[in-house]
Amino acid sequence: NTMKAIIPAAGLGTRFLPATKCTPKELLPVIDKPVIQYVVEEALAPEGVDECIIVNSHDKPQIEAYFCADTGFEQMLEKRGKNKEAAKVRAAAELPVSFVYQNEALGLGHAVHCAAEKVDDEPFFVLLGDYFVPSKQMNIKMAEVSRAHNNASVIAVAPVPEDQVSRYGIIAGECVGSLDGVEASGEQTGAVWKVTGLVEKPAPQDAPSHLFIVGRYLLSPRIMELLADQTPGAGNEIQLTDAMERLLDEEEMYALVIDPMEGCDTGTPAAWAATNARLALQSDAADAFKEALGTVEL
Ligand code: G1P
Repeated sequence: NTMKAIIPAAGLGTRFLPATKCTPKELLPVIDKPVIQYVVEEALAPEGVDECIIVNSHDKPQIEAYFCADTGFEQMLEKRGKNKEAAKVRAAAELPVSFVYQNEALGLGHAVHCAAEKVDDEPFFVLLGDYFVPSKQMNIKMAEVSRAHNNASVIAVAPVPEDQVSRYGIIAGECVGSLDGVEASGEQTGAVWKVTGLVEKPAPQDAPSHLFIVGRYLLSPRIMELLADQTPGAGNEIQLTDAMERLLDEEEMYALVIDPMEGCDTGTPAAWAATNARLALQSDAADAFKEALGTVEL
């Protein structure tokens, strides 16, 4: 069966200014590849989706250019004996990626709805672009939870300290089991919750739990109809979380507790720098990286 993933990428990237004045934050490199390519490759992993739909803004044509073939450039590289480099450039253009455009920054829910016509009437994934999971196992686990619960919607969640709940979407619910072959309960990695409520960016005293929505969603197509008339919520933005809260009146939803350190955060300059360091230490260039760091004290 075919399945699609929506990757919202129309944000302003204000946390990374001034770098993002001319370069979309999605194209900032982690080692030698743009952040968004890790997210696309995660979505397309074996057993994953067949196509990624990037929700872009007209102000960031560089993202579409990055995923388009540039045969002249590839041939020039090959002529100079740079075949490996040419292959890397070509690989990005061969990824099954298509684009829709969000004309106004009205919120995550609005961005997701911009891709409504592309997902037909099938369940789909949403992968937020400032976090990626190198093992590419997250969507597979979420699909497993969905299959175990009558193809219900599934979101990934993780524990967050109380003083940070107002930065995220927070779930209400109760633990009802765990991933196959994993012994986990409560907020432990691998625990599965039945979701009974969702709140976007609550004040600490209003947070129904300490589990936040990490940015990986497997959603029922019904959400697109609910997003069509979703009114603005937190931050005066059309929130995906609010439409999901309404979905609960009609359908079941589950949450899989993940270890956020299984993935790499690139959402702030500090997290992005740490992700680069983590991946550099795991790469072929680990020794060169350590040497380049020199005697820096960690
Ligand atoms: C979005 C979602 C929020 C989620 C967060 C994860 O918020 O609305 O529910 O917890 O992503 O990063 P944003 O970061 O766009 O404010």
